[in-house]
Amino acid sequence: MIEADLAVTGIRELATPVGKGPRLGRDLGQVRVIEKAAIASRGEQIVFVGEETDYHQAVQLTSGGRTIDAQGGTVLPGFVDAHTHLPFAGWREREFDERLRGATYSDIAARGGGILSTVSCTRAVDREQLARDVRNRLDSMLRLGTTTVEAKSGYGLSVQDELKQLSALSVAGRDHPVEIVNTFLGAHAIPVEYRDRREAYVDLLVDELLPAVARDNLAEYADAFVDANAFTLEEARRVLGAAREHGLGVRLHADQLANDGAAELAAELGAASADHLEHSSDAGIAALAEAGTCGVLLPAATFFLMMDARPPGRRLVDAGVAVVVATDFNPGSCPTESMGAALWFACLTGGLTVDEAISATTLNAAHALGRADRIGSLEPGKRADFVVHALPNRYHLVYRFGVPRVAKVIAGGRLVYESSPAAPVG
Ligand code: NIG
Ligand code: FE
Repeated sequence: MIEADLAVTGIRELATPVGKGPRLGRDLGQVRVIEKAAIASRGEQIVFVGEETDYHQAVQLTSGGRTIDAQGGTVLPGFVDAHTHLPFAGWREREFDERLRGATYSDIAARGGGILSTVSCTRAVDREQLARDVRNRLDSMLRLGTTTVEAKSGYGLSVQDELKQLSALSVAGRDHPVEIVNTFLGAHAIPVEYRDRREAYVDLLVDELLPAVARDNLAEYADAFVDANAFTLEEARRVLGAAREHGLGVRLHADQLANDGAAELAAELGAASADHLEHSSDAGIAALAEAGTCGVLLPAATFFLMMDARPPGRRLVDAGVAVVVATDFNPGSCPTESMGAALWFACLTGGLTVDEAISATTLNAAHALGRADRIGSLEPGKRADFVVHALPNRYHLVYRFGVPRVAKVIAGGRLVYESSPAAPVG
């Protein structure tokens, strides 16, 4: 008999990708679906996933063990949000209103608004305030079914303020059920005080910030934003090349607003991911597939910026790129913590099927963060991070768009969230 201390039964449908690596091409949409399922864990790990009839034969609860009734809901792995700008102060709802009146994201950035206005607000708060804001946002993500989140700095843009952002993540993440993966994004924008000497800012990133981040183990990855209002390809190559020398993995904001050749750069650098990609060329996309660099779609941001371009979901799948879908949570281009929203837009504007979007927000996202051996699918040996959705099957996740129906979240084998009153399945 398998011993377990937590079991969830009464699951109408359990759906999960399978494996410890990314799902590519046609396999992206191959998810394992079990009807009338049960799942059980011991400590932090899954020990059983299968039909409920088999569960009763195979699993024994330890004394004090607990069974939870999914009440006919649907179980999926916890979402892995592989791209967010979590630690910031200063929302930008006025700029949003300006955009509704016709201003573009680039117009606002070019006149010193946009990212730089969030930089002023973030510099003005202390680490503890930032950590409180992060914690509240983690709570909200958890209630929406996210159990792992990547989080970028990039609103400090000075030694003190970038380190403050990264350490606020560590403070906020202490004992929180959502696991945080830190990314250093000092190369997000040129700060005002360096406006006329951008090379000196790149020197600061390479000579002071990256060594400090690596020495104090403050991030696993470094990222850069290649754009007309941010960094050139050459500057990004220099910063991320240095990051690699310090042992950090690299990611890249690539081809979001124009085709800058940034997908090609991500491939050249052996990046873990290239993100956005709305304007990437076929050659750039082929280079990502060849290099094994994940393509992260941020379809809620594409939508929120009211871009004509669509997230290139089908192009990436057909080229054999490991496709990931994430939120891009940030105050400018995507102020939502909802992975459900990312899923709706990935399907309705990015051309993915529901099953593809499930793999792209779980196992492939875990792979993009170097964690596919531990999380991202529901299999014995993986971390027991899963969500009961008050929905009769997985299609309803997207079909019933606009209303997340998360009923329960289990993270590390513990029930950490339960909606109240209980959401009825239907
Ligand atoms: O991923 N593109 C650059 N960075 C963010 C937006 C940040 C902001 O507007 O504050 C993004 O969309
Ligand atoms: Fe981003």
